[in-house]
Amino acid sequence: MESVQNIKQRFEIIGNEPKLNRAIEKAIQVAPTDISVLVVGESGVGKESIPKIIHSLSHRKHGKYIAVNCGAIPEGTIDSELFGHEKGAFTGATSTREGYFEVANGGTIFLDEVGELPLTTQVRLLRILENGEFLKVGSSQVQKTDVRIVAATNVNLFDAIQKGKFREDLYYRLSTVDIVLPPLRERKEDIHLLFRKFAADFAHKYKMPPLKLDEAAVQLLQKFRWSGNIRQLRNVAEQISVLETNREINAIILQSYLPAEGSNLPSVISDKKAESDFSTERDILYKVLFDMKSDLNDLKKLTLELMKNGTAKAQDINPNLISKIYGSQENESEIDFEERPKPALMASQKQDNHYDEPEDNYLFAETIEEEEILRLEQKEIEMIKKSLEKNKGKRKAAAEELGISERTLYRKIKQFDL
Ligand SMILES: Nc1ncnc2c1ncn2[C@@H]1O[C@H](COP(=O)(O)OP(=O)(O)O)[C@@H](O)[C@H]1O
Ligand SMILES: [Mg+2]
Repeated sequence: MESVQNIKQRFEIIGNEPKLNRAIEKAIQVAPTDISVLVVGESGVGKESIPKIIHSLSHRKHGKYIAVNCGAIPEGTIDSELFGHEKGAFTGATSTREGYFEVANGGTIFLDEVGELPLTTQVRLLRILENGEFLKVGSSQVQKTDVRIVAATNVNLFDAIQKGKFREDLYYRLSTVDIVLPPLRERKEDIHLLFRKFAADFAHKYKMPPLKLDEAAVQLLQKFRWSGNIRQLRNVAEQISVLETNREINAIILQSYLPAEGSNLPSVISDKKAESDFSTERDILYKVLFDMKSDLNDLKKLTLELMKNGTAKAQDINPNLISKIYGSQENESEIDFEERPKPALMASQKQDNHYDEPEDNYLFAETIEEEEILRLEQKEIEMIKKSLEKNKGKRKAAAEELGISERTLYRKIKQFDL
């Protein structure tokens, strides 16, 4: 049997944490069997290497290895992707198609984010796990496949079962053996090792001398919460590698690359609940700032319009803004609009482009604090990214959460090149 050390070398896995070694050892032990394995761990802990290890040490190693991110495939097409479809099964099904389970016959399928599978797909998956049988979408002919399944999740499937989102019977089928990968914050000794490895890789890639952390910086690395785990650590190492010309990194410099999530204040904000309250509050604050920014833009536009020709067109004015500034009662003497929007009109002009920016091509754009706007924009980008991540890239859900229309979100994604 291969040793844990060999496997770590082969798969470039860094770290000596006993829990990590145990996880790799378990993968080695189950590899020669056909037992289904569930890999559990937060996002960014390195779950993806486990199914690869299992596949490469199994009798299926010359067969296909297919990794599927269940959270990234739209609900409407996932059955067809996984199990295939018959010609004419649905509009656009112009020919018969093989699904991943058919293609991977004799090999291994890795179902990442398995908790995201729709319930109907879970039923099909259960059947495959039980006897290898499946039906193509739109077909009544039972087919057989011989596939080893390794699944992974970063959500607590017990919670999902409680909420009726995940089938309990499927859970037990998938997790005949479970392999748990510890979060980075529980691998204190490994954090600096990993950072050094990434720093060396990036130094090489960007042709810069490697970074060096002082004692306090190392301590900060170890104290930080790393909610994005190894992926986040790698990201931070890359940013510092590219941006810092002084290659001696102290805690103050390092701190400036770490998000201020209270994540590095475990004593103040220790439990998960407090932390999520904290981030909700922050999100609300950002939202208020965006609203202010967009009001400011409307105001700029309005003022410019008034300066140019003494009038403003009703349809150009955000009605919310008008009522915010001038209250709801009419007071014609305060502002000289030819067509002052009437409250009824305001209410009917339901705007979904609350965050839309008017084209920034007017006279005094430079006099407005550009920097502040830039910073707000940065926050906006962050918020959008966060929401997209949280909603697994589903734009509809993200837009809903952000309180903007899907179309606006789409435009923002293009505008910021996200
Ligand atoms: N032990 C490790 N040593 C080196 N790099 C690692 C290790 N674990 C994970 N990584 C890297 O961290 C990133 C995230 O890993 P990944 O397997 O995608 O996480 P997950 O699937 O759990 O979200 C990848 O770039 C991976 O190469
Ligand atoms: Mg992953």
